[in-house]
Amino acid sequence: MSKRCYSILSALLAIVSSFPLSAQSKSVDAEGHKWWQHAVFYEIYPRSFADSNNDGIGDLKGITSKMAYLHDLGVDAIWISPCFPSPQVDFGYDVSDYENIDPMYGTLADFDSMVAEGRKNGIRIILDFVVNHSSDRHQWFVDSKSSRTAAHRDWFVWRDGKGPGQPPNNWTSTFGGSAWTLDPATNQYYYHYFYVEQPDLNWRNPVVEKAMLDTTTWWYKRGVSGFRLDAVDTLFEDPKLTDNPVLPGKNKLGDPNTEEIHNKKLPEVHDVLKKLRAVADQSDAVLIGETWTSNIDELKEYYGSHDNELQMPMDFMFTTVDKLSPPEFRRQIAQVDAAGGWPVFVISNHDKVRSYNRYGDGKNNDAIARLMGAFYLTLRGTPIMYYGEELGMENNDPKRKEDVKDPIGRTGWPKEIGRDGERTPMQWNSDANAGFSTAKPWLPVPPSYKTHNVAKESDDPNSVLSMYKKVLALRHTNEALIDGNYAALNEDDPNVMSYLRSYKGKAVLVALNMSSASKKVSFNLAEKGFGSAGLKSLVATPGASVKGMDVSLEPYGVFIGEVVR
Ligand code: NOJ
Ligand code: CA
Repeated sequence: MSKRCYSILSALLAIVSSFPLSAQSKSVDAEGHKWWQHAVFYEIYPRSFADSNNDGIGDLKGITSKMAYLHDLGVDAIWISPCFPSPQVDFGYDVSDYENIDPMYGTLADFDSMVAEGRKNGIRIILDFVVNHSSDRHQWFVDSKSSRTAAHRDWFVWRDGKGPGQPPNNWTSTFGGSAWTLDPATNQYYYHYFYVEQPDLNWRNPVVEKAMLDTTTWWYKRGVSGFRLDAVDTLFEDPKLTDNPVLPGKNKLGDPNTEEIHNKKLPEVHDVLKKLRAVADQSDAVLIGETWTSNIDELKEYYGSHDNELQMPMDFMFTTVDKLSPPEFRRQIAQVDAAGGWPVFVISNHDKVRSYNRYGDGKNNDAIARLMGAFYLTLRGTPIMYYGEELGMENNDPKRKEDVKDPIGRTGWPKEIGRDGERTPMQWNSDANAGFSTAKPWLPVPPSYKTHNVAKESDDPNSVLSMYKKVLALRHTNEALIDGNYAALNEDDPNVMSYLRSYKGKAVLVALNMSSASKKVSFNLAEKGFGSAGLKSLVATPGASVKGMDVSLEPYGVFIGEVVR
């Protein structure tokens, strides 16, 4: 090749590789499915994933160094919990600059390298956009607080008290106490649904809206493929500040229970989501919602009446099934499957006790962890994993109040112990601190890291990790799992959860024994269009066997098989 040709080619390559990943692959398949409908997402809590500079806190270079691991696992996109500059009162959910990286995690250059390494490994980057509030140290709030006439005064929610020493109304912070804090200098209260250090932004101010929309564009241009939107239901408050109805009893933090009808889920939320979506669509980006809903109608609203809000509102109702209950899971799946939007399944996150503990019975936890992975990773919809779930990582809760890092754990101890337990360092190997860091990690790893870590489990074909890898590999290659419909099977069975995923005459049957006794189940798929069929095992636990259309499963056994005729 001539020198000139070579330099034109390298210039072209440089241009192409500087495109955001999202712009490179506007993927839509024959079913009209977008890239995020085929992707497996993985939440990373950056403090706890991998520590490159051995200061005891994870960082972006650490994440970059683990891209190959994530690729081999079968992950297509990582959602990184907030890594922006922050005083870390709520470990990043108090942002003091939306367009930068906290020095503890690295630099913008490190971020760019992470995006590039992700691209090499086919992994997109999703950031966490804390839309409801900033940090009280954000320049916007510092200015807002400086005087009643400050340029940013109306960027936050300021009100006069009801009377001397009385907040404007009875709204309480979800992290304890009144949601209003008095600023003595200007003698007004500001509103914070979360910690005192997390003042709510005033989304009724169009200038705030513009600043926040522009922030998303700024990150899309930097190669981000979407956002997980934090706390979307708290964006707006009733401007009349009507008191919330008081309910009997007190919550874990000692505050009166209230029905939060005047400061949550206001209809205006949907106008903002539409605007965020319009911007996201320009970059083929995805919006994932932290959408706590109590029924399917509420969840449906988040997709938007014309598929014009969130593509991926998380279905947290699924996570509230905290027991291995096939009837309850069937009910939840049927609802979200019929809702019209694309289902989004999650079993763990940084705010919730790990699935290993929630579903585990104390004796068969590994088997149950394998089963839960095989379950939600084979449903129709997009799964969002939580780091370490693939290892069977367990909660390591603090035993003493003085060890608690999460402020709500200190306020609410011992009834509310906080969220440290589910945020401990990723377990890479059997070395000190599970290979996360040579320094003392910010949170301790549980003793079980010696057996539950990437190195150990990679060598064991029956480990939780091996099950996750096998199922994820199948999910990426099997058409019925990629694009197929979901149909519940044997719906009266109280113990074995089973279903069929079928696509263009091909089908995969999944049978999961959610009980502690061995079970034999028979299937008749004639009604589903698969008469006189047999089953060929694709992924199964060691005690599972198949004969014709009969499947035998050991306690908590898994069988995933192709339907053959
Ligand atoms: C939800 C986040 O997941 C949680 O960790 C955080 O404390 C609150 N939103 C406040 O941002
Ligand atoms: Ca570090």
